[in-house]
Amino acid sequence: MIIAIDGPSGAGKSTVAKAVAKTLGFSCLDTGAMYRAIAWQALQEGVAFDDNESLGALALAKEITFGHTAGDPIPKQVFIDGVEVTDAIRTTEIDKAVSPVSAAPAVRVALVAQQQRIGQGGDYVVEGRDIGTVVFPDAELKIFLTASDEERAHRRVRQNVDRNIGSFDYAEVLADLKRRDEYDSSREMSPLCAADDAIILDTTEYYIEVVIDKICALAKEKSANERQQA
Ligand code: DC
Repeated sequence: MIIAIDGPSGAGKSTVAKAVAKTLGFSCLDTGAMYRAIAWQALQEGVAFDDNESLGALALAKEITFGHTAGDPIPKQVFIDGVEVTDAIRTTEIDKAVSPVSAAPAVRVALVAQQQRIGQGGDYVVEGRDIGTVVFPDAELKIFLTASDEERAHRRVRQNVDRNIGSFDYAEVLADLKRRDEYDSSREMSPLCAADDAIILDTTEYYIEVVIDKICALAKEKSANERQQA
């Protein structure tokens, strides 16, 4: 079963995806980390962010893998070509670089193919921007998470403080979220938008635990229905 979780930056996708996967015993795929890893590699190699062809070649050539601790299906580390970039892809520099890199059509083609290959392997919670619309249009359950701009910026600052990475400045984080939303929603290929059959959950007013319980309940309902129909 694939559970697709899409939505803008800071809506709580990562927290929710990991908790849902843990509760249901699913694996978890953070597709944003893959775009971030390519942005990091492009910076290392000095590839211009408007050079679609070279960015695409990079995305095809470099293998992105995830590291797990024994017995835990939730990935804790990100590697590109064997180099660990878990923290390096969460900096303010990458926050800025990842928008143009993820808008490059050749990068999207390469990474969507990788994501489909990974997800075919079993039960996955997959989070991103285009999972329910492009990567897994037949996902059994599609969730679109939203929250107000201000709430998302507060959450992102708290997350940065916890991880001790990125900006701790609320105004800077809010401006960056709005800039990325604009970029992600207006790009030509696979813009951020809810699939027609997605369930839209606004997390502004809810504790994240309520959202996690709701998605787990929906997933159990779906698989019970599928078993009945089989
Ligand atoms: O989820 P995130 O903030 O780590 O994602 C980083 C960037 O990657 C974000 O600006 C949008 C882009 N992205 C995308 O275009 N498609 C996805 N499926 C996931 C992320």
